Amino acid sequence: MRLISFSDWNAFIGCLDGLLDTPQVQTMRSLPHHPGVNCYEHSVFVAYVAFRLARRWGLDHRACARGGLLHDLYLYDCRDRTAHPGNQCLDHPVFALRNASELTDLSKLERNIILAHMWPLALHLPRSREAWVVSLADKLCATAEVMGIWKRLKMRAVLAA
Ligand SMILES: [Fe+2]
Ligand SMILES: [Fe+2]
Repeated sequence: MRLISFSDWNAFIGCLDGLLDTPQVQTMRSLPHHPGVNCYEHSVFVAYVAFRLARRWGLDHRACARGGLLHDLYLYDCRDRTAHPGNQCLDHPVFALRNASELTDLSKLERNIILAHMWPLALHLPRSREAWVVSLADKLCATAEVMGIWKRLKMRAVLAA
């Protein structure tokens, strides 16, 4: 995907309703996610990729941007085994949905995007094309992060700023 244009960035930011600047979303900067990648970087990366895919495919790109940004808003250190009751894979979408619901009014579509993003590793099924798009974007971005591709992408300087 090419470097972000000014109009792409403005359209993306416009979908997020100021959520990027909230303390909850900014807290993700201090939380590790994948090796060498914090939860904020990952979430903005997923949100942007999902936004671009959804816009290209004529889907609800606003819901994909918002759901993508909030899909991992679980807000604890995933290495801390005392921070949640069970399996991180199953637990974190539930915590993310709870925190996101406290932060903003979520549509039914956005709620399912967050809850179902770990399918098929977790049990909640994506119930819209938008939820499938965010789940796909999450897997693409996670792969890029783990393989070190994310660190070399020019868009990182804009998305992770
Ligand atoms: Fe996740
Ligand atoms: Fe994720």
